[in-house]
Amino acid sequence: MLSKLLRTKSVIAHGSTGLKKCLTAFDLALLGIGCAIGTGIFVLTGLAAATQSGPAVVISFILAGIASGFAALAYAELAASVGGSGSAYGYSYVAFGEIVAWIMGWILLLEYGVGAAAVANGWAGYFVTTLANFNLHLPEALTKAPMMGGSINLPAFAIIWVLTILLIIGVKESARVNNIIVVIKLSTIAIFIALAIGHLNTANWHPFMPFGWFTTLDNGKNIGVLAGASLVFFAYFGFDAVSTAAEECKNPQRDLPIGLLASLAFCTIVYIIVSGLLTGIVPYTELNTPSPVAYALTKLGYTWASTLVATGVLAGLITVLLVLLYGLTRILFAMSCDGLISPVFSKINPDRQTPTRIILMCGAVVSLVAGFIPLGELAETVNIGTLASFVMVCVGVIVLRIRQPNLQRPFKNPLNPLIPVLGILSCGALMTFLPAATWHRFLLWIVVGVVFYFIYSFKHSKLNQ
Ligand code: ALA
Repeated sequence: MLSKLLRTKSVIAHGSTGLKKCLTAFDLALLGIGCAIGTGIFVLTGLAAATQSGPAVVISFILAGIASGFAALAYAELAASVGGSGSAYGYSYVAFGEIVAWIMGWILLLEYGVGAAAVANGWAGYFVTTLANFNLHLPEALTKAPMMGGSINLPAFAIIWVLTILLIIGVKESARVNNIIVVIKLSTIAIFIALAIGHLNTANWHPFMPFGWFTTLDNGKNIGVLAGASLVFFAYFGFDAVSTAAEECKNPQRDLPIGLLASLAFCTIVYIIVSGLLTGIVPYTELNTPSPVAYALTKLGYTWASTLVATGVLAGLITVLLVLLYGLTRILFAMSCDGLISPVFSKINPDRQTPTRIILMCGAVVSLVAGFIPLGELAETVNIGTLASFVMVCVGVIVLRIRQPNLQRPFKNPLNPLIPVLGILSCGALMTFLPAATWHRFLLWIVVGVVFYFIYSFKHSKLNQ
């Protein structure tokens, strides 16, 4: 039954499994790093330090990294045994059946769509700073969402359209381009570290934990190191993209776990160093700016480095954006091929060989979200979705061990079920540290998804037929 389902799913979702098997563990690790390092570390570190964690934002990063580590082990087990490029959506199909898979796919749409909008906001912050370094100033009303006192975040809105057009023309992330951009991103980080380290002033780390562990304010905002962890968790979103490459790697059983864990470990170390330095060279109270890393370098007097780093960040965030937008269209495409959403979405434009209609629709929705909703709200919404999908993947490991004890598991979590249980608890805990408003948005999204499933998807599902 399992293998039949897998084969059906695989063929339904991907048309064929004739993808080229060319990726190594090293490529996979770079893929994870390429998708993960972005707005989280370059922008949210400042926001979290200034408003939630103080210099203890380092601890927030460690806590979010630990929760992601448990989830990475669960992903590694399922990617190596279940495989497929559907990630959490595909695993849920196998472990729980269609309705849970639908909800998972529905959550992934939220993650990728809102995630792209959030990264576009991060990109916009560095874009405005770069222009300012060249003495070009955009009116403030055009660089901020209405909730932040502006009219629209025009650069965020516009970059989504530029990438939408690129995707329609047929530009796709390739492992080689990704590797180059990862090098640019890491060089940017290296420049920052090299310049910042000599200016470290440990007095800036006092008080270390000005907002405590966790408090809910009267306005509904959560503060403290734990609330900060649930915000900076955004920096880890994306490493799971490694699992979607299962069908394209040379030796998935060995390489997938290595790729997942290596990229996560690497990102965690980078995040600890960068956030520690950032709060050590500038008082945390000053870091609530749209481009904190560039701001800190300018403050130290390195205007040239600030411009260089900002340009590197701009290039680096473009790939994260492309991956997210491409992933969004690919999930919609797979769900449409499975019959869960209208077949209109799986129409391929015969001239361009890209699903033009889905791409345009995604571009329209994501650009509006990016232009009108501020970064903090967007990131928290993505995080609740990502954390929910991590919890589901951990539950999936436990369920499959019971339902399919004889499934070939080239990579197994040790001490079963301890690791997935710790994953469920830690990711679940991070979810509870998110504000009530984020929970309301998330639950509304799930309710709409379930209603849609019973009105449409249930009747049209190809697997049901
Ligand atoms: N983790 C990615 C970022 O921080 C999405 O931009």
